[in-house]
Amino acid sequence: MTKLVEIVNSLKGLDFNMLKRTHSCGQLRLEDDGKKVTLNGWVHSYRDHGNLVFIDLRDRDGITQLVFDPQSQPDVHKQSRGLRCEWVIAASGAVRPRGEGLENPKIDTGKIEILIEKIEILNTAETPAFEIDGADKVSEELRLKHRYLDMRRPEMQNRLKIRHKVTKIVRDFFDSADFWEIETPFLGKSTPEGARDFLVPSRLCVGEFYALPQSPQLFKQVLMVGGVDKYFQIVRCFRDEDPRADRQAEFTQIDVEMSFVDMDDVIDVHQRMVAAVWEGILGKKVSLPMRRMSYKEAVDDYGVDRPDLRFDMKLKNISDLVGDCQFKVFTGTIEKGGIVKGLCAPGGAKYSRGDIEKALTNFAADYDAKGLAWFKVAKNEESGQVTLASSIAKFFSDEQKQQIIERFSANEGDLILMVADTEAVANKALAPLRVKLGKDLELYDEDAHEFVWIVDFPLFEWDEKAQRYDSLHHPFTAPVPEDVEKLETDPGNICSQAYDIVVNGSEIGGGSIRIHQPQMQAKVFDLLNISKQQAQDRFGFFLKALNYGAPPHGGIAFGLDRLVMILTGTDNIRDVIAFPKTQKGQCLLTDAPSPVEQAQLDELNLRTQTHH
Ligand code: AMO
Ligand code: AMP
Repeated sequence: MTKLVEIVNSLKGLDFNMLKRTHSCGQLRLEDDGKKVTLNGWVHSYRDHGNLVFIDLRDRDGITQLVFDPQSQPDVHKQSRGLRCEWVIAASGAVRPRGEGLENPKIDTGKIEILIEKIEILNTAETPAFEIDGADKVSEELRLKHRYLDMRRPEMQNRLKIRHKVTKIVRDFFDSADFWEIETPFLGKSTPEGARDFLVPSRLCVGEFYALPQSPQLFKQVLMVGGVDKYFQIVRCFRDEDPRADRQAEFTQIDVEMSFVDMDDVIDVHQRMVAAVWEGILGKKVSLPMRRMSYKEAVDDYGVDRPDLRFDMKLKNISDLVGDCQFKVFTGTIEKGGIVKGLCAPGGAKYSRGDIEKALTNFAADYDAKGLAWFKVAKNEESGQVTLASSIAKFFSDEQKQQIIERFSANEGDLILMVADTEAVANKALAPLRVKLGKDLELYDEDAHEFVWIVDFPLFEWDEKAQRYDSLHHPFTAPVPEDVEKLETDPGNICSQAYDIVVNGSEIGGGSIRIHQPQMQAKVFDLLNISKQQAQDRFGFFLKALNYGAPPHGGIAFGLDRLVMILTGTDNIRDVIAFPKTQKGQCLLTDAPSPVEQAQLDELNLRTQTHH
């Protein structure tokens, strides 16, 4: 009984939204002068000027200034003094121009205000854990815990809106190109994208598990065997790997598959899709066709298969120039079969020796470089010639220095940084160093978008540890027809029909033309050391389907989250997901994952082992 009384009491003073909104909080302009309007929204800020009270009212569309005047509406003015931030209200009144000099050019409604005649309090709110305006000053943890508050920020609302618009453009694009959106199961069998699976225990088949899909790869290929011809799906994928800045365990793909196509067909459709998205969201024309670059060129010149092409600064191998210098780190590395590779940062000589030997060297060390050798490019006072200055310069002849300057096309004021190591480590360290320097030295336009298709990937890479070949893309990727014979003779040198699309150094999509002949699929499994039995157990259903008239087919998947990151200019994937997970894979809003009742475990015939 007391409970009920409490509830009734708590509702006193609340109204029931009789004032229906006529406009959003971002809508009214000078042309609306004199209109009687009603707005609904949240109290964003409150200013009491003794006489007049000003309230900024917010909804997802914007902010409008409300004015409460004690002269014209004494009761409502009094009521307004009780309002607090994040209370939900309805307010009616007349639109009027703001006074001279009181306009706010920063907001769309900044030329007007509303003189309020009536309000309803639709709900009160506890003091929020952080101010909506000040959310950028609090920890992300706090924001995720109170995601409903965080989401009220215009930046977050804009990202959610853009994400919606992207999916709408994508769906319309594929619909008009005759693709069908078809759903594939979440409760399925493990697919081989190379990450760990999330497993779901089955209650009905005791001791057995479903795997959440890492992608719909095999289902979409079966759809092609099933004659669907053109499929797409905006679909959640699940990979139990450690989350990173651009990686979540649960993320969304724009997944596509097409029959009777070659690589050029797939690339053509998808670069037009990307252009439609860029046009629709940013109003920018993407020039088509996008450029293409071979995997080898990307790795040689940029150290990675996802080069940021907004700026140049190519990596150069200088092993041939320094093989007989006096610097033991270089000669020793080359003798052991390693390389000396480096980059030339325009204007980088402004870094102090301390910066280079601490900050930059530590940065490179995070990517396994054992050191970072450097030269500043400077003018020799006496000769007036450009030369190299550094503590290691004495180990190089004048001729060697000039050759290095030439190799890097270096100019006075530049900084040359070099790593001596295996080719793999040199690339691993120099690629991120290049990106960091490009940003620090402001070598590119932040608003530019440089697209590139990376092609001519090797089909396999040799896994030294496991002593076997591994697929660079996935085991269903077809080799180029010219290289099919090498499956028997030279598997390490087969070129695949895989392609990735990269923008500004981010891999936003990847796919391939698939193997559609069962014999070739069996041969590839063989090379990957997947036994007939294993292949049967894991992909038996798929291999069987290939036997029943599989058409030639290929496809691609885009990372929707990454696309939206680029379009909204954030480098944090959690910013573009309404309810993301932390680095530890937790949802701070709901506290998932969490322990479950013993009864639930019993029903699944599961037992947990807790180690202390
Ligand atoms: P792939 O594994 O390359 O290909 O994935 C395709 C695209 O999905 C995005 N992506 C991710 N985004 C966020 N978090 C993650 N953990 C994550 N992992 C991948 C990337 C990537 O380019 N079935 C194949 C596609 C095909 O062959 O058609 C596949 O899944 O942007
Ligand atoms: P040290 O001989 O270790 O005193 O190193 C002399 C300089 O060479 C320092 O600037 C180191 O950072 C650099 N250096 C050491 N090892 C490497 C390496 N593997 N590659 C590039 N530079 C290195």
